[in-house]
Amino acid sequence: MDVTRARAWETLTRYTQSEALRRHALAVEASVGGYARRFGEDEELWRVVALLHDFDYELHPTLDKHPQDGAPILREEGWPDEVVEAVLSHAEHLAMPRDTQLKKTLFACDELSGFVHACGLVRPDGIATLEPKSVRKKLKQPSFAAGVHRDEVYSGAEELGIDLDEHIANVIESMRPIASELGLRG
Ligand SMILES: [Fe+2]
Ligand SMILES: [Fe+2]
Repeated sequence: MDVTRARAWETLTRYTQSEALRRHALAVEASVGGYARRFGEDEELWRVVALLHDFDYELHPTLDKHPQDGAPILREEGWPDEVVEAVLSHAEHLAMPRDTQLKKTLFACDELSGFVHACGLVRPDGIATLEPKSVRKKLKQPSFAAGVHRDEVYSGAEELGIDLDEHIANVIESMRPIASELGLRG
């Protein structure tokens, strides 16, 4: 089967009706896609993995099922092992080795994209003028976007080997072009 962004979107939207979850997928896709370009990697493959990483969350909203019970569905649909394994690796509770640049990047972008999105929602111009400094400040306020696992934001950047400020700046930059699709002003 062809591993295309269009097919991944088709799979995602067949299993995911929630606008918030679709926006999460798009935000992670933008961030991971930006890194694929930066690293000179296969951008379409990386975008596919990012789009699919939470494809089964609506179906399996608990960690005893997500994402492990989604994996057989992806295999049945013909997605290659490379895609399925990378999708599985984003889950901390499965403790799978993040032994490729793609897996490291997906993990590093997952929680942070959500957090940057949350920062943008409370600003009059969304993420248009958002800077790493103010994101870092908000990371230290436990009540802000409390569902975002701070430890995963920090360890993600560390595993990726990119300074946190730089990583935040990269994610913001990658998300800016799709700000309106993400429901952000600016
Ligand atoms: Fe997930
Ligand atoms: Fe996610």
